[in-house]
Amino acid sequence: MATSVSHTPLWCLLQQRATNTPSIKELFKSEPQRFNHFSASACGILLDYSKQRLDTTAKLNLLALARQQKVEARRDAMFAGEAINHTENRAVLHTVLRLPKGEAFHHQGENIAASVHAVLQQMRTFSDAVREGRWLGFSGKPIRTIVNIGIGGSDLGPQMACIALAPWSQKNLLLHFVSNVDGRHLTDALKNAEPETTLFVVASKTFSTMETLTNAQTAREWMLAHGCPSEQIRQHFVALSTNVEAASKFGIAPDNVFPFWNWAGGRYSVWSAIGLSIALYVGADKFEEMLAGAHEMDLHFQQAPLEQNLPVLMALLGVWNINFLGLQALSIAPYHQRMARLPAYLQQLEMESNGKSVTREGQRVDYATSPILFGEAGTNGQHAYFQLLHQGATIIPTDFIVVADDDVGLPGHNQALLANCFAQSKAMALGKDITQVRAELPGVSEALLPHRVFEGNRPSSTVLLDVLSPKSLGALIALYEHKVFVQSVIWDINAFDQWGVELGKSLAQQLISLKPEAVKEDYDSSTKGLLRALKRDK
Ligand code: F6P
Repeated sequence: MATSVSHTPLWCLLQQRATNTPSIKELFKSEPQRFNHFSASACGILLDYSKQRLDTTAKLNLLALARQQKVEARRDAMFAGEAINHTENRAVLHTVLRLPKGEAFHHQGENIAASVHAVLQQMRTFSDAVREGRWLGFSGKPIRTIVNIGIGGSDLGPQMACIALAPWSQKNLLLHFVSNVDGRHLTDALKNAEPETTLFVVASKTFSTMETLTNAQTAREWMLAHGCPSEQIRQHFVALSTNVEAASKFGIAPDNVFPFWNWAGGRYSVWSAIGLSIALYVGADKFEEMLAGAHEMDLHFQQAPLEQNLPVLMALLGVWNINFLGLQALSIAPYHQRMARLPAYLQQLEMESNGKSVTREGQRVDYATSPILFGEAGTNGQHAYFQLLHQGATIIPTDFIVVADDDVGLPGHNQALLANCFAQSKAMALGKDITQVRAELPGVSEALLPHRVFEGNRPSSTVLLDVLSPKSLGALIALYEHKVFVQSVIWDINAFDQWGVELGKSLAQQLISLKPEAVKEDYDSSTKGLLRALKRDK
């Protein structure tokens, strides 16, 4: 059995360092040029981590920890297509989805890069036809409304990207994302839709997800009930799936199925056919620019020395905060309205990947793993949960994500946005002590002073994008993907399975009738009580 990372001398050294690490304020005082040593950039992204509570010794030890845990070898194994998702015996090759055209990648005897580009071409042909009004609905009219039906990775990625890339969207196309099995989600999306001009994109890697199949079935019935002849339903439904057979069985014409492969995990699938809604909304060229941005980050991750390697640095900062400073949560604050869905996207990426409590060998870990991640676009978050970030008894590190050059031309707005972002991280890092408060508020009663004090010493990183473009968005997402992977290597866990979602799924199947006869005697009294309280027996 491998030695647990937490029992290695380096881990103990880092624990000691954490107890002796000066405050962020002291770190800035002792290193006036701190920004120069605690920042790095690549692919149009600057990472400023000088406001983390981290000194050079801790940083060097963290880099040594990465080497001890063989981050480079594990990374190379992932890129090479080894079955690193060992609980499902699968390779993890979302990076192949963004290889440039013409590059080959052989996996299990097949050039899968060529298959990837064949599907990209299929996506281009279809999205061009829809966007140019050549793909017609049952009454001969072009498509005007697109409804992406999918959940988790089959929803969050394309949705987040479409919102971020809205400036490139085609104005006469309306796009909805329906994920929830709650019928209100689909009902609201269809409220103003015209069946004859509506296209449903059924996105499901497995084509077995209850929410998606229920929504897709209802959408189909809605089309038929609104006059679509069954033989024309093919004009209104396409599927994105690894399970081409199940999609065809559902009634989607084989030509309308855009395939992908098991080596692309659900939460890593935005680069695959799952990105079709992006291509429909902003065009295939922009979608491919996003892939190119991610590929650039892949190369950086593979080639840059660990000291300058953005995903590695971000991963180590997280490990430092979670495992050594004991800061278990992470707030994501994108100071850009169009990145408002990024926190939701990262929630799945980080928490579904690294929300694990056994090592790759199945031993219970004795250290924390994934951060508890949440967030909101700035400046909205400031007026909601930032109070706790500034003065709460729990310290929560923040990733501020901000774009240097994205002025929409409304005087004053962008300036105010950026100033707020930088002010927040400064306030969190340095705070305001009682002497400053006293000086600022002469005559204020001593009893009120503690309420006005900001302890500071609350770590944050700032991720500054040159611009928000399809390319930089691709690089940003890939940055977080690789960060999550590096953390999984350090924690010795499998980031690519998600067995934790299975139990709830199967219990829901057992309870689906909600009828009194579904109440089994051996159920717990809470479940019995809730089922009976529904009064379905009337
Ligand atoms: O939540 C579990 C999960 O399997 C995710 O990993 C996935 O993104 C989501 O369900 C949707 O799955 P599918 O694309 O197969 O419908």
